[in-house]
Amino acid sequence: MQTKNIGLRNIEVADTKICAIDGINGKLIYRGYDILDLVKKSNFEETACLLLNDDLPTPKILSEFSNKLVEARSIPDGVEKNLKNLPKSANPMDVIQSKVSELAVHDLEKGDDRNANYGRAISLISKMPIVIAYWDRIRNGKDVIPPSAKLGHAGNFLYMLTGKEPDSEIARIFDICLILHAEHSFNASTFAAREVASTRAHMFAAVSAAIGALSGELHGGANFQVMKMLLEIGSEEAVEQWVKTKLAKGERIMGMGHAVYKTFDPRAEVLRELSRRLSEKTGQPWFKITKKIEDVTEEEMKKVRGSDIFPNVDLYSASTYYMLGIPMDLNTPIFAVSRVAGWTAHVIEEKFAEAQPKPMLYRPKAVYVGKYCGPSGCEYVPIDKRVVPH
Ligand code: COA
Repeated sequence: MQTKNIGLRNIEVADTKICAIDGINGKLIYRGYDILDLVKKSNFEETACLLLNDDLPTPKILSEFSNKLVEARSIPDGVEKNLKNLPKSANPMDVIQSKVSELAVHDLEKGDDRNANYGRAISLISKMPIVIAYWDRIRNGKDVIPPSAKLGHAGNFLYMLTGKEPDSEIARIFDICLILHAEHSFNASTFAAREVASTRAHMFAAVSAAIGALSGELHGGANFQVMKMLLEIGSEEAVEQWVKTKLAKGERIMGMGHAVYKTFDPRAEVLRELSRRLSEKTGQPWFKITKKIEDVTEEEMKKVRGSDIFPNVDLYSASTYYMLGIPMDLNTPIFAVSRVAGWTAHVIEEKFAEAQPKPMLYRPKAVYVGKYCGPSGCEYVPIDKRVVPH
C-alpha cells in the first residue's frame, strides 16, 4: 500500500534556483546569497532584481530595473475608480486579491514569453503597494497620495500611506522588512502560484491564487493574529498566564513554530532587533511583551511536551509594523507586497525553467474514502423517494 503524504511535507516536487532554506541550521538563501547579508548590504529593489534574475545585478541592470519600477508606479484609472466603489469594511486581502485579477484586464504586455512575464512581474511589484496604500486612504475617507518618483520602494509606500516622507531610519527598517518577506521557497502561497502557472494560466491568475493562500492565519494571516494577541494581552505581566491558558486549551500561539525551521527562523532574529529598536524609539511596550511571549511559549512547550519551539517571521513583524504606524489589518497585505517578488520569480521559473526534468502540470492523487456501493456505483434514487438519513 502506498503511503499518503498528508500536507505534502518534505515531498520534492520541483527543482528551483531561487531559494534554499536550511531549516536545521536556520539559513535562508536567495539565489545563493544569505538573507542576513542581504539585509545588511542590499535593498528591496536590488533583492527583487536578484530574485527575478540569476544573480546580483550590475549597476546598469539595477538602474534599468529600478527605473522600470518607478515608471510602473501608477494604477489604471478604472482600478482606482473601482476601489472607491468598494464597501469601506472590505478586508484588505480581498481588495488586493481582486485588484490583482483586475490588473490582468489592463495588462499592456503582449504574449506569454519570458520578457512579457518579466514586465508583468515589475508591474505587479510596483502596483500592489499603490493599491494597498490607496485602499487604506479611501476606506478612511481621505484623498489618495500619488506615488513619488524620487523615493525608494519602501519609502514611497509609507509616503503614500501617510502623506509624510518617512525619515531615513524608518524607511530603512521597512525596506529590511520587505527584503525579509520577499521569498521563502515552496510555502503554501508560492506553491499555489506555481500550481496555477503550471496550467499555463497567466501571471495575474497565479499571483491572485497566491494571495488567497497567504490570507489564511496559518500562513501570512498569522502576523495580524499576533498583533491582536499583543493588544489583548496588553502588558508584560499578563503574558505568562495568557500563554499557559491558551496552551492548556490546546490552542496555538501565533507567530511561534514553523513547518520547515526547527531552530530560530533567521528572519525572526532580524525582526526581533527591529522591533527592539522601534520600541526604544517610540517608547511603546510591544517588544518586551513579544519577547516574553517567546520565552514563556518556549519554556511551556519544553516543560509540557518536551519539544522545542521557536519564533517565526510573524512574531516580531507584527509589532514592528504596528510601531511603524501601519494599521494592523495591512500586515498581511504588506507581506504580499513584498512576497510578490518571490511569487513572480517562481511563476517565471515554472513557465521557463531550463532544468531537467522540466516542470509539468501538478496533479497529486487523493485516496477516495467516500461511499462505495459496488463496481457499478450507487443506485440513483429519485428525490421524492429519498429518506432522511438517521
Ligand atoms: N503553538 C502551540 N503549539 C504549536 C504551535 C504553536 N504555535 N506550533 C506547533 N505546535 C504544536 C502542534 O500543535 C503540534 O502538536 P501535536 O503534534 O500535538 O498536534 C506540534 O507542536 C508539532 O508541530 P509541527 O508539526 O512541528 O508544526 P506544523 O508543521 O504542523 O505547523 C505551523 C507549523 C506554522 C502551521 C504551526 O507552527 C502553527 O500553527 N503556528 C502558528 C501559526 C503561525 O505562526 N503561522 C505562521 C507561519 S510562518
